[in-house]
Amino acid sequence: MTGEQGPRGAAVDAPDAPDVLTVGGARPLVGRLRVPGDKSISHRSLIFAAIAEGSSRITGLATGADVRATARVLGQLGVDIRADRAALVVDGSGFSGLSEPEDVLDCENSGTTMRVMAGVLAGGAGLSILTGDPSLRSRPMDRIVVPLRSMGATVDGRAGGTRAPLSVRGAPLQAVRYVLPVASAQVKTCLVLAGLQSGGVTEVVSPAPSRDHTERMLAALGAPVSVDGLCVRTTAGAPRAFEMDVPGDPSSAAFFAVAAAITPGSDVVIESMSCNPTRIGFVHVLERMGADVELKTTGEVCGEPVGELRVRAGALHGTTIAGDEVPNVIDEIPVLAVAAAFADGVTDIRDASELVVKESNRIGALHTELTRLGVGVEPRADGLVVRGGRGAAAEFESHGDHRVAMAMAVGANALPAQSVVHGWRAVQSSYPEFGRDLERLAGDGA
Ligand code: S3P
Repeated sequence: MTGEQGPRGAAVDAPDAPDVLTVGGARPLVGRLRVPGDKSISHRSLIFAAIAEGSSRITGLATGADVRATARVLGQLGVDIRADRAALVVDGSGFSGLSEPEDVLDCENSGTTMRVMAGVLAGGAGLSILTGDPSLRSRPMDRIVVPLRSMGATVDGRAGGTRAPLSVRGAPLQAVRYVLPVASAQVKTCLVLAGLQSGGVTEVVSPAPSRDHTERMLAALGAPVSVDGLCVRTTAGAPRAFEMDVPGDPSSAAFFAVAAAITPGSDVVIESMSCNPTRIGFVHVLERMGADVELKTTGEVCGEPVGELRVRAGALHGTTIAGDEVPNVIDEIPVLAVAAAFADGVTDIRDASELVVKESNRIGALHTELTRLGVGVEPRADGLVVRGGRGAAAEFESHGDHRVAMAMAVGANALPAQSVVHGWRAVQSSYPEFGRDLERLAGDGA
């Protein structure tokens, strides 16, 4: 398929976030909220629709810049993506329908776009160059380059193939069995998509469970993908075209869950949220901390469970987050660290060295920001120790990281005085309307 190049198929437009957020007043949060569509499922739904044959219709997509980057990259590969009322319609023509892009593919801040698309492009036609913003260009890419090369892919990158920009020249791929050194759903997905383009049986084995949207969705859409414990197996094939309403993002809901738990008088219900078991680890952590939470699954879409989460304010105490639980709460650790800052006692976060290579070095960023909040925090190579005890309003900094920005806003909201969060625009990546939604729930609680 050929198509005009450029930013076609942008996901639903979201408001522009300001660069500074002022927040505070210990305002209780009350009401019902539907958070934007799950970011991981949104990326996958666009990519799976692009490699399917036929028209797919997707509603409820994540509104942030990361998912828009994926839509734009697919547009540059000739995929026709158009808005039709509240939906995006994606006309896929299979892997072979993707054409060589005329220009560099800019993944902006989105690791999922870069790592997953590299797996799609590895078996395709022509040359693609994948780049991103300074944060993404500093993140490790050898974790996809090494296994893709073992499949016969022609992939390279800056700094000896470890950093973007990456070059991917499509080549015939062979099936492999690959054991991931770290539990990463992005790497797993990259290799499964390469596996769908190779002869034979590809096996991707994870050292611990990680989010499993790829396996669930591809199997539900008829692609030859199966799961055996920690091993995902695939042969050549593709998903069929589909219709999907993307459920709300639990990683976005987690900010309101913690905000409600730590702000007296709060009672928040998050509707239509993904209840995928690999994504709701934060609910179990909050339960262990003594939070008043109720989670119920009410349905399913494309193999993904959907439900509702209710959180009411209450006293929290410290806990330990470690081991196999970590990959399933990795994106929620910034806001769980804020919950720990407002809890009684000590919270120990271990086995989370992946935090260093996220959108910012989250161990360093949380150490700095929780210190500004005035609570005891000790960084470690693989996590943090947080000594709870309500802090005080301060000037916080996002470190260019959406999740650090929102985590600090959640802490600031629970304090009587006003704080500011600088670099607030970072929330554009995943949740541009966070500030508006916080105001609405705070208004309902007033
Ligand atoms: C994601 C996987 C996780 C997560 C990221 C989204 C995905 O990254 O932190 O926000 O959609 O597959 P890793 O695969 O690096 O753990």
